[in-house]
Amino acid sequence: MMNRLKNILVAAWDFADSYLYDIRRYWRHSQAFARFRSRKTARAYLLMSVHALEKGLALQERKPGFGKAKCRELLGEALRFQQQFGPDPVCRYTVEVVGCVLEFNAATGDTDADLVARFQSLKNEITQSQTSFDAPGGLRQVCKREIAASLPPDAFQFFATRHSVRQFAAGKIPEASIREAVRIAQRSPSVCNRQSCRLHYTTDPDIIAKTLAHQKGAGGFGENAAAVFVVTSELGAFNRAGERNQAYVDGGIFAQTFALGMHALGFGTCYLNWSKTAREDRQFRRGLNIPDSEMIITLLAGGCLREEFVVAASPRIPTDEVLSQLRRRHS
Ligand SMILES: Cc1cc2nc3c(=O)[nH]c(=O)nc-3n(C[C@H](O)[C@H](O)[C@H](O)COP(=O)(O)O)c2cc1C
Repeated sequence: MMNRLKNILVAAWDFADSYLYDIRRYWRHSQAFARFRSRKTARAYLLMSVHALEKGLALQERKPGFGKAKCRELLGEALRFQQQFGPDPVCRYTVEVVGCVLEFNAATGDTDADLVARFQSLKNEITQSQTSFDAPGGLRQVCKREIAASLPPDAFQFFATRHSVRQFAAGKIPEASIREAVRIAQRSPSVCNRQSCRLHYTTDPDIIAKTLAHQKGAGGFGENAAAVFVVTSELGAFNRAGERNQAYVDGGIFAQTFALGMHALGFGTCYLNWSKTAREDRQFRRGLNIPDSEMIITLLAGGCLREEFVVAASPRIPTDEVLSQLRRRHS
């Protein structure tokens, strides 16, 4: 009886502590109360705002003269960013996208001379940063034939041959392969292209052992993993209460693309849940260089594939239980 009561009290405490922990961290790190609180929050805010213009350019029906007020506002914010945090590729990206919008508007006969003059002067003030995004902002031409040529011959097979691998061959995953899998994971969509996800990893057996001791779900196989990965999502990318769970959505998509990327490169992975209480999350972070502003989404173990091995079959429920058509409810 006493034991049961104790368990209920501990569970209730963990509930309250964990929810309060989430609220406190979202309050402290998100951009809900200050967009220019840090480089991280300001960059995510600019990425999101500039992307709103960029996607306007990608619409089939583009409105002539669109986005002028937004262009003006964003040029000012890019300058403010640079003054506050120094050069950053997001400022360059802002200039590129605003340039494309002005070009489009000029082509439709809607030129705002005052805005163009402001753009030209600001363009010169924006300093080149040492790092850059992987492509200029604006539009990218895509060809259906190119997409078709890049597809695996059997789409189902590609996904069906990814398994949670719990037996690994001896050997290391080359750093270049990890980097390539992250580059692949970076192709994941993210809310307003804010790209909140980060990947921390270790190939050090000692750190792997300590990490897995906290995670507790890799018993019997974690010790053979060549690497452990921690997928996180930067809370500074998110705004307002409505986005409080967005880190999990973007983080889940990123983690899955990473696992599929490792699969495409010929390595095995197994997700390792981070379904933890606030207490456990705090303990894990102690002594690790994961910034407090990042939410831990999931861990993965990874390693080289054996020539032959077994996996848990993990049969799937009937597709008819998963798939249904949306219908209007008649009340
Ligand atoms: C978020 C997440 C957390 C998981 N955590 C664990 C874990 O802690 N330990 C483990 O052995 N497997 C874990 N798995 C693997 C699942 O058991 C596995 O994905 C599921 O059975 C389907 O099998 P498959 O991945 O081989 O298709 C996890 C999977 C996901 C997506």
